[in-house]
Amino acid sequence: MKRKDFTRREFVKTNTIAGIGAAVAAGLAPSVVASCSSDTGVPAILGGQKIHTGGWPGWPQWKPAYNESLLKVMQSGIWSRADIVTEFENKWAATIGSKRCLSVVNGTNALVTAVAQNDIGAGDEVIVTPYTWISTVQSILLAGAMPVFADIDPETYQIDPEKIKAKITKRTKAIMPVHILGMPSDMEKIMAIVREHNLIVIEDACQAWLAEINNKKVGTFGQCGCFSFQNSKHLPLGEGGALVSDDEEFIDRCYSYHNVGFPYGTVIGGVGAGSVMLATKLRLTEYQAAIGLAQLGVLDEQTTIRNQNAKYLRDQIKGIPGIKPYKLYKNVTRAAFHMFCFRYDEKEFKGLPRDKFMKALSFEGIPNLSGYAPFLNKQPYLEHAFKTKNFRKMYSPEELDFNKFKEANECPENDKLCVEAVWLQQNMLLAEKPDLDNIAAAIERIRKNAEQIKSK
Ligand SMILES: Cc1ncc(COP(=O)(O)O)c(C=O)c1O
Repeated sequence: MKRKDFTRREFVKTNTIAGIGAAVAAGLAPSVVASCSSDTGVPAILGGQKIHTGGWPGWPQWKPAYNESLLKVMQSGIWSRADIVTEFENKWAATIGSKRCLSVVNGTNALVTAVAQNDIGAGDEVIVTPYTWISTVQSILLAGAMPVFADIDPETYQIDPEKIKAKITKRTKAIMPVHILGMPSDMEKIMAIVREHNLIVIEDACQAWLAEINNKKVGTFGQCGCFSFQNSKHLPLGEGGALVSDDEEFIDRCYSYHNVGFPYGTVIGGVGAGSVMLATKLRLTEYQAAIGLAQLGVLDEQTTIRNQNAKYLRDQIKGIPGIKPYKLYKNVTRAAFHMFCFRYDEKEFKGLPRDKFMKALSFEGIPNLSGYAPFLNKQPYLEHAFKTKNFRKMYSPEELDFNKFKEANECPENDKLCVEAVWLQQNMLLAEKPDLDNIAAAIERIRKNAEQIKSK
């Protein structure tokens, strides 16, 4: 899709032109065109006209107005970490409501840094959700700690605080809640558990920029919050990540860790001592920060639109039998909606399997995803980690018995969600309401014709 400078409506138009050029040129709104021109009632997968011909807002989005600040950096010759990165960090900390922010190369390494600088390691258990991107769990394993999976709440898809309680042992050192799909976890309940057991909380907010519980931003509840600025994310830099925290000494340590162990702030080294701690190099570049500053300018407005449109779409589809949209906890004042998720029940669609439903939806012009593959709590990377030299030195053979691990880490609610979920990507929530109506219409049409689609 071609991208150029746009207002929101212009943007949708831009991405619509390829499909319905002449009509748009005549001044009709894209979705009006789409519904007038298409609905013969026959599903597109069976040869009918697709319901949504108009395309969707593309991602990431770039405006010519951003060119100047980026060009300035490129022409300065200062491309490695310097003032623009610091400016971006200060702005992100202020936006989130945290004292400090450190940017790093990606969200994965924000998590790795957070785990390492909380001194989580061999023999420690970290409780984590199975419904997440692999990086959350890899950051635990990379430190030599043991992930312990607590199952999800089937309606909010977030880690279930009651299941966390059942997993706490003497070895539990931390909890890593993940605000998955940009919807906040139940942080008030989680923080109550944490206080009772004196645990560390590292929030994986890699999908939850500006999401809030009772007007407090996620990422600010625990010891630290981690964010991703990867290409598909709502603040996209291509690659990038950040940690936020009110603990200045912790962020100083993280800074040194991300800068080959050189002293920084309260991490004091003797004059000429060079590197003073075990570390790596994870620095963001000036041009990434310039992109970030530009993207920050639209994040708040786009987050509001996503929230409004997610609620609108939810209302449009919640009455369709077999479609159960996401639920937010009552105390959520704002979500990020990295994905709009609903559960699909094939029984209400004459036994039409999810993959065929999804394919039929794509044919109607509604792109969609099946979400995370099942069994993050059982996949081979775990066994591989257990077989490494370090794990074999740190844990007993019994602790590394993979069958026992799998048994102890069963998460049946997650298993069910992984085979029922359907995701719509966040950029679709930046479209116009009539475009969202097309999503509901497409689902209805598939349901009405489920028998024929199934036998195709
Ligand atoms: C929940 C979650 N955690 C961590 C990450 C890792 O972030 P990155 O891709 O920037 O390394 C992601 C990215 O998709 C994520 O969605």
